[in-house]
Amino acid sequence: MNTRIAVFGTGYLGATHAACMAELGHEVLGVDVDAAKLAKLEAGEVPFYEPGLEEVLKKNVDNGRLRFTASYEEAAQFADVHFIGVGTPQKKGEFAADLTYVHSVIESLAPLLNKPSVIFGKSTVPVGTAQILGERARELAPAGDQVEVAWNPEFLREGYAVKDTLHPDRVVLGIDKTSPRRAEQVAREVYADLLDENIPFIVTDLATAELVKTAANAFLATKISFINAMAEVCEAAGADVTTLADAIGHDARIGRRFLNAGVGFGGGCLPKDIRAFMARAGEIGADEALTFLREVDNINMRRRTRMVELARNVVGGSLLGTRIAVLGAAFKPNSDDVRDSPALNIAGQIQLHGSSVNVYDPKAMDNSRKIFPTLGYSTSASEACQGADAVLVLTEWKEFRELKPAQIEKIVRGKNIIDGRNCLDPELWRSAGWNYRGLGR
Ligand code: UGA
Repeated sequence: MNTRIAVFGTGYLGATHAACMAELGHEVLGVDVDAAKLAKLEAGEVPFYEPGLEEVLKKNVDNGRLRFTASYEEAAQFADVHFIGVGTPQKKGEFAADLTYVHSVIESLAPLLNKPSVIFGKSTVPVGTAQILGERARELAPAGDQVEVAWNPEFLREGYAVKDTLHPDRVVLGIDKTSPRRAEQVAREVYADLLDENIPFIVTDLATAELVKTAANAFLATKISFINAMAEVCEAAGADVTTLADAIGHDARIGRRFLNAGVGFGGGCLPKDIRAFMARAGEIGADEALTFLREVDNINMRRRTRMVELARNVVGGSLLGTRIAVLGAAFKPNSDDVRDSPALNIAGQIQLHGSSVNVYDPKAMDNSRKIFPTLGYSTSASEACQGADAVLVLTEWKEFRELKPAQIEKIVRGKNIIDGRNCLDPELWRSAGWNYRGLGR
């Protein structure tokens, strides 16, 4: 059965969700307040780098199942299933999440709802938010109690957004036990193709659904900080964290994934989500339960400082007047996202120590320039390495993993390479006469 769906917010989450819902055969209207973004999407262009998304978007724009609008009136008339996919960034100067955009969708949409409607929230929100949004929506909507807010958290990873949306590990749905409870049936219809694939479908209450999302990201962040803490111990003990991760990862209870030590996690999700989680736990009287996340955050931020220290050490104790090549700016490969990117943060810190820093990233150059306009930018890895006293690999793009010493050894000033993602072969570089340094190895 095909459903008429409106998706509010056309950022990473919303644009992907809208395109993928159309791909499932539904009629979809993407709604945003940003006219420039809408124009691009209407033309079948994705405003950010996400492998595979443009094809799905174009195809469904062309076949007419996917359209975009700035009009809430149009959305309310067109659809009876609504998804909220707007951002919930960190508040300035606070740990808590800024819920302005989520609230504003409800404030604008609900007064226009005069037929039974289900609103599925997908944005990452502090536990308790869905309940409040549901009450507010019913209060504002002409359809009153016929409006239901359910929570359907999103677990997609940037770089794999289409695959994660069309073939997720699980679908989680939180429903409000006090409202009409159509949400589960509607979700089963919307996600029928996924459920046919036997993807686990977990139906629970609103609070649990909200918490599943934050708990998952908190666990992933903890796993990364755990291995980065082991990296610190390995450095002190002269051991190798990569081999250690391989060895403990063979234990199926531990698992090897997300045990890559390096400059740590960044991006628009993990850092802000663990902070918002701590803030919310405090508000509901459970702050002690999450004090360990402060340490997770600290370990993570310490990796960036450690990288700066290592760079200083390899160039002889002072960065002043040196040239440093930074390979990678995105917070992870296959993405042009530089939000809270460890790579750019490190590049900025090194520049503050008096280095001339040259950054190269295959996709994230424009976004980097916007937030760090004073760094030097190069058009290729080898240009960035020109005259460098040290080369820092800070995002593990395939291009950098496959870099060979011969490609840059004639153009650098010092044969120093620091592998901030432990993604290079130390022997390859050492045998070519380089001073190779990894993190925790
Ligand atoms: C993360 C979660 O993985 C998704 O499940 C979730 O849906 C998403 O946040 C979200 O909340 O929207 P994402 O931010 O795309 O996805 O990135 P990840 O693949 O989780 O990587 C996060 C950071 O951890 C990156 O900076 C990456 O380089 C770093 N990382 C990852 C490590 O340092 N070590 C690892 O072993 C793995």
